[in-house]
Amino acid sequence: MEIIMHEQALGWLLGGGRHPRALEGRRPAPRAPAPLGCRGRISAPVVYFVDYVTNCIYLEDIVDSVTVRDHIASVQQCGNDASSLLPLAEKLGELLARMHDEDLIHGDLTTCNILLRPPMEKLDLVLIDFGLSFVSGLPEDKGVDLYVLEKAFLSTHPDTETVFETLLKTYAATSKKSGPVVKKLDEVRLRGRKRSMVG
Ligand SMILES: Nc1ncnc2c1ncn2[C@@H]1O[C@H](COP(=O)(O)OP(=O)(O)O)[C@@H](O)[C@H]1O
Ligand SMILES: [Mg+2]
Repeated sequence: MEIIMHEQALGWLLGGGRHPRALEGRRPAPRAPAPLGCRGRISAPVVYFVDYVTNCIYLEDIVDSVTVRDHIASVQQCGNDASSLLPLAEKLGELLARMHDEDLIHGDLTTCNILLRPPMEKLDLVLIDFGLSFVSGLPEDKGVDLYVLEKAFLSTHPDTETVFETLLKTYAATSKKSGPVVKKLDEVRLRGRKRSMVG
C-alpha cells in the first residue's frame, strides 16, 4: 500500500520530532491527521499524533518489517550472489528518485532507515527516521543525500558495488531532475576522496 505523506505531517517530522516507538501497547489516535495537501507519494509510516508537550511523534508501527540492512545481510548469508539483490536496488533507486523529485532530502539515508514491509518478496519499501530531513530543490543537497547512502551502503554490505550501481542507474532513469544531481554526486565523491587523502 502506498502511504501519502501529508504536508502537515511532513512539517511535524521536519520540526525535529523523535520516534519513540510509542505505539507499543496503545494507539493514541485512530487516524492520521487530515491532509492539508500532499507533498508527494512517498512510502513512510503514517503519523497518528504529535505531542508538542513531550515532543513525541506517534507513528504507524510497520508490523513484522525488516530493515533493508538485515534483508541484504540475510540474502548474502544464504550464499546468494549480488545479482539476486538487483530488483531491490531498482526499487530503492525508484523510491529515492520519487522522493528527490518532490524536493525532499532525507538527510540520513542508510539501509537501517529503510524498511521492507511484509511479504518481503513484494519489495515494498518504507522510509523512516526523517529527523534530519529537509526540503530543498538543490542538486547539491540531493547529491550529498545519495553520497551518504553510498558510503553507508558500501561500508555495511561487502561486494555490493554492482548493486549500488544499479540503484544509481535506476535513480537516473526515473528522476526527472537526475542530470545535475548525478554530476553533483561525482563532485562530492571527489571532494570526499581529496579530504581522505589530506586527512
Ligand atoms: N515505524 C516503524 N515501524 C517499525 N519499525 C520501526 C519504525 N520506526 C523505527 N523502527 C525500527 O527502529 C529502528 C530505529 O528507528 P529510527 O527511527 O531509525 O531511529 P534511530 O536511528 O534514530 O535510532 C529502525 O531501524 C527500525 O528497525
Ligand atoms: Mg535510524
